[in-house]
Amino acid sequence: MTLQEVTSSVPELGIAMIGSGLMAKSHTMGYRNVESVYGTTPFRPRFTVLADASEDLARRGAESLGYERWTVDWREAVTAPEVEVVDIVTPNFLHKEIAMAAIAAGKHVYCEKPLALSAADAKEMYEAAEAAGVKTLVGFNYLRNPAIAEARRLVREGALGDIWTFSGSFVLDACSDPNVPFTWRFERARAGTGALGDLGAHIISLAHVLVGPISAVSGLSRTFIKARPEPTGVFGYGSGADLGAPRHEVENDDATTFLVEFANGASGHIEASRVATGRTWHQSIELIGSRGALQFVQQDIHTLRLYLSGDPVDRKGYREVELGPSHGDYGAFWPFAGVPLGVHELKTIEVHEWLSALAEDRTPDGDFKEGWRVSEVLDAVERSAAERRWVVVPQ
Ligand code: NAI
Repeated sequence: MTLQEVTSSVPELGIAMIGSGLMAKSHTMGYRNVESVYGTTPFRPRFTVLADASEDLARRGAESLGYERWTVDWREAVTAPEVEVVDIVTPNFLHKEIAMAAIAAGKHVYCEKPLALSAADAKEMYEAAEAAGVKTLVGFNYLRNPAIAEARRLVREGALGDIWTFSGSFVLDACSDPNVPFTWRFERARAGTGALGDLGAHIISLAHVLVGPISAVSGLSRTFIKARPEPTGVFGYGSGADLGAPRHEVENDDATTFLVEFANGASGHIEASRVATGRTWHQSIELIGSRGALQFVQQDIHTLRLYLSGDPVDRKGYREVELGPSHGDYGAFWPFAGVPLGVHELKTIEVHEWLSALAEDRTPDGDFKEGWRVSEVLDAVERSAAERRWVVVPQ
């Protein structure tokens, strides 16, 4: 038999990637991996164009990530006729302008979190997308966790009873060193809040799906490292620092802790920090209900700890549920239980949800409406911390 040509009738979907940093890599891997992981895909991504701020970044990004063309003008990428989906993986301050242009051009938009610098902007983006009839998604990738899928199922089916308390923490020490340079994440105009929007946004999205809307918050924010050196490199965590140059004043929070009141009466507590010395990268949640409780730690991604009050009295205690093919999308990756997935694999699940929603003409789980709802909570926490009082979250 001669070598056979592979042919495919799967329709193509033109992707424009705006930015070429860490998340550009993660989104592109997601698009590339969906068909291999799930064995089927509603669309085969066509990596049409990548935009970045300089020629060097755009060309190198397009080459290494496998895009057909590159540009230093994101507007060219957003309006290119063969582009159907615009992925926004730039610093936060650019999300709105790029999304609004993409929506105006009739493109579907997949944007990283936090959706915008303010809830008002996020709402505008959501409403514009609704009016234009385009689909949207925000990069809340921890929603995709098989453990979270299982936790959502347990809550939905009432296994934990009424949810009384939610605790969530996303803390890391990537910025504990005062010589980590002053990149966009430390600047209010380009990032908005600091740890709150960068890390807390993820936990708020988890709280929303596990408990429900947040009705009021009381926050405390701190900036422990007041000034940072000039960056020598490009954007992102990988940049070097010029230790001889004058330092920049840090303009947003290193750490924010807030109390949460949920609309259904549950209570909660959320912690976000980028200077959590010793907590290299830690994310965890705990749910306490009237009939049971659960705990999940992202580093133990293959395990969900579950406590059920109805267990026989001589066997009371937390059990460790090994996550496996019956939980969420785990089975797409492994046919047996207990194998840890990685964050980029969560992104693959997210992209699968995105492509499926586009194909099925439905709203994806975690769209701009959810991005806006999360931004309402972020704004309320920021105001609460500034004014040292409880703040009601507009519903
Ligand atoms: P990064 O700093 O690594 O990359 C940002 C990219 O945007 C760089 O390539 C930069 O040159 C480019 N850029 C800047 N100005 C531009 C312009 N005018 N036109 C086109 N490109 C431009 O940042 P990273 O870590 O990739 O973050 C990007 C977004 O993703 C942020 O909103 C961040 O909050 C979010 N993020 C989400 C994560 C998640 O787990 N979902 C994790 C890390 C970041």
